[in-house]
Amino acid sequence: MTAPTPAAPTSSGAADADKPLPVDVHPAWLPPDAFRAIGSRRVHVHGSGLLVDTVTSEVARACALHGGSWVRTGDGVTADGVTADGATADGATADGATTGSADLVLRVAGPGRGTGPEGYTLHRGGTATVVEGHDPAGLLYGFFHAVQLGEQAFGAHDAGPQVHGPALARRMLDHWDNVAVHPSMGQVERGYAGGSIFWRAGRLREDLGRAADYARLLAACGINAVSVNNVNVHRTEALLLTERLDDVVTLADLFRPYGIRTHLAVTFAAPVVLGGLPTADPLDPAVRDWWRRTTEAVYARIPDFGGYLVKADSEGQPGPHGYGRTHVDGADMLAEAVAPHGGVVHWRAFVYNHRQDWRDRRTDRANAAYDAFTPHDGAFHDAVVVQVKHGPIDFQPREPVSPLIGAMPRTRLAVELQVTQEYTGQQRHVCYLAPMWSQILRFRFRGDADEGSAVGRITRGGGLVAVSNVGDDRFWTGHPLAQANLYAYGRLAWDPDADPSALLDAWAALTFPAAGPDVVAVLHAMMDRSWLTYEKYTAPLGIGFMVDPSGHYGPAVDGYEYSPWGTYHFADRDGVGVDRTLATGTGFAGRFPQPWSQVYESLDTCPDEVLLFFHHVPYGHRLQNGSTVLQHIYDTHFDGAREAEELAARWDDARVQAAVGPDLHARVRERLAEQVHSAREWCDQVNSYFYRKSGVPDAHGRPIY
Ligand code: GCU
Repeated sequence: MTAPTPAAPTSSGAADADKPLPVDVHPAWLPPDAFRAIGSRRVHVHGSGLLVDTVTSEVARACALHGGSWVRTGDGVTADGVTADGATADGATADGATTGSADLVLRVAGPGRGTGPEGYTLHRGGTATVVEGHDPAGLLYGFFHAVQLGEQAFGAHDAGPQVHGPALARRMLDHWDNVAVHPSMGQVERGYAGGSIFWRAGRLREDLGRAADYARLLAACGINAVSVNNVNVHRTEALLLTERLDDVVTLADLFRPYGIRTHLAVTFAAPVVLGGLPTADPLDPAVRDWWRRTTEAVYARIPDFGGYLVKADSEGQPGPHGYGRTHVDGADMLAEAVAPHGGVVHWRAFVYNHRQDWRDRRTDRANAAYDAFTPHDGAFHDAVVVQVKHGPIDFQPREPVSPLIGAMPRTRLAVELQVTQEYTGQQRHVCYLAPMWSQILRFRFRGDADEGSAVGRITRGGGLVAVSNVGDDRFWTGHPLAQANLYAYGRLAWDPDADPSALLDAWAALTFPAAGPDVVAVLHAMMDRSWLTYEKYTAPLGIGFMVDPSGHYGPAVDGYEYSPWGTYHFADRDGVGVDRTLATGTGFAGRFPQPWSQVYESLDTCPDEVLLFFHHVPYGHRLQNGSTVLQHIYDTHFDGAREAEELAARWDDARVQAAVGPDLHARVRERLAEQVHSAREWCDQVNSYFYRKSGVPDAHGRPIY
């Protein structure tokens, strides 16, 4: 046993052993109990570097909470933690090679022993459990895996060493947080969980404790990249690149100990807005030079800076088109600036005409990104990642997968999901989105037999990105059950083939340690199909956008019908839907490869759930499920509203209240009451709308107004 030293090695931003979480902030999936199995044992950490320091701090904190002991060796450093009764993890040596009498050994593999970045090997069985990180980041993820296994991390197992590693190299969250409060969008654009955990009223927050705790939660579900400001870059946010770079440095210092790289959304007009140049033309040498120098200055302060995120030529944001240049010209200029430093440019493909004439039925927003980007396949710099929203329109509860994702084989692509529930109930409704994301990630462009054409495979080049749902709310996400979306997103980014139902149960068991299998079963019953419930009482059959335009919450069936935004349903007295066929419509169906092009083109094979996305049909059209379109609308809306009531009833279970605690229970109950009310409103407005258009009554005579 080596000489005791007073404290665990710490480093800037790493979790402090004796700093408890603020009492009023919910610990999400890392409650103290989650660390009981590890924290009550003898743990030996071996390795060096910042991330190993983080693991050590985590172990120290766990042992301080639960009475275990720990020792750290490696890189000439030796430290240990002694419990109140003086027990220590003896048997460890300074070279860390032996497991001694430790119950858990956490170590970084020697050179050449790893199988991939961020991966780890878990050996259970024998006298000790050993987590061997293939690199320091792998150790961090392996540690959190052991946390999640709890007692199952220990004891005899037959399985032998298990090797784990992320399927996708970049697993990113984008914050749509504004530095300065935006007059209409507020502190967080499309944020439903209070203020920003980074920014408040024009400045970096003084207390960044929540940001540090957030980093920890993200590492525990596998996230390794965060963009810290809104993609709509306004005047104050633009300054983060230059004058306010200190703020980004501070955030990067908080994220780094948890293996998370910091990215920044920048305005394409920065050379003009910040640099005082007369142009931001990407082919102008002075502009290129400005980006090169500015980027060098960023990397001088943040050597592991992740890179830029750019919304260009999209919804009024400036871009290369303003100078008669292409997306390739714009993105490559930035790529040349970041590439020498190992960064990337996430260039968003969310490009369409947002000033469309609703009378014009030939222009189709669904075609826009595909048509704008596919001609450039293979032309982008290697450091460019084209970031594509999962659907061709905009994060609706149901859309087909964007065909652009399958049409850029020579380009690095990232797929963008929306964890914040802009169009899926705004964290007032229970809507567990992982089943939808899983469907998207498993979608195979060239049919079932072609595994390589799965979205989860295609994104290996660029990664998975999602808009965060977190704010300074004490439950992090406004609706406490929306934490499950954040957790499951991270886990799906690590493994796109993960089972969303199993992730839900894992989240519930971690988050509510007092919940027995019966309570986990109640949560499962409430949440697992909640996305389908939400879909039932909102816009039918994939048509989308029957939402109130002012805030995207609640029904307004014709809210967007005569708007310039390109999102129409074309309901009249005879039928509804958008003809996107090749034969008679906008041709969108033809943007898919076979077999999907044909599947979507034909009324006989088009899946019911996206029928109105692809076809304009009479109300009497028979769906594959045997119902008519109109009767299906009535049935699903009544069913959805009833299911919302059932959700609320399930929550009123004394066992649930005991397991989740009174505060959280009360918050969810309040949200459920709103969900029931809102679902009823959706049901009645949508049903009445179609009844009034068609004049056809409900076959079952239920009340329609
Ligand atoms: C949606 C959302 C906007 C956001 C945009 C984007 O349209 O409503 O607030 O800016 O997506 O993804 O850029």
